[in-house]
Amino acid sequence: EKMNTPFDIIGADKLHKLVEAFYNRVGQHPDLIPIFPNNLTETARKQKQFLTQYLGGPPLYTAEHGHPMLRARHMPFEITETRAKAWLSCMNEAMDEVELFEPIREDFYARLFLTAQHMVNTSENDM
Ligand code: HEM
Repeated sequence: EKMNTPFDIIGADKLHKLVEAFYNRVGQHPDLIPIFPNNLTETARKQKQFLTQYLGGPPLYTAEHGHPMLRARHMPFEITETRAKAWLSCMNEAMDEVELFEPIREDFYARLFLTAQHMVNTSENDM
């Protein structure tokens, strides 16, 4: 018997709405605007693919882009603790907006928190 993954529980439709709500906020956040492209359409498309596989769904990101190597892919951008916090606050608000609640929210957010910490590559003192 196959277990339900977090992706199965959330569903593609809600995950896509979450990503849209998230990048709407990223595009307006003063700490994040400087490092993101003006047009976030392609970024959102990749993030939908990535989060689908991150949550146990089909490996859509890897099929198109290869191994995620997320930390390496973030190296061109100065990611400070402040920016990690901003990213996570946009995600938390997006989860509220699309009403992503238990049984999925706490674990999902906790994982994103750890991944976000792992992306930090620049000390605030270097800014
Ligand atoms: C791409 C910033 C955390 C997943 C990007 C890009 C930026 C960025 C500037 C490039 C956007 C583009 O050129 O289209 C940040 C910041 C973070 C953060 C400031 C705060 C810690 C995360 C986390 C995840 C993630 C936690 C996953 C859970 C991705 C993915 C891409 C991406 C999948 C697309 C990579 C590609 O080009 O194929 N991020 N990110 N990021 N980020 Fe993040």
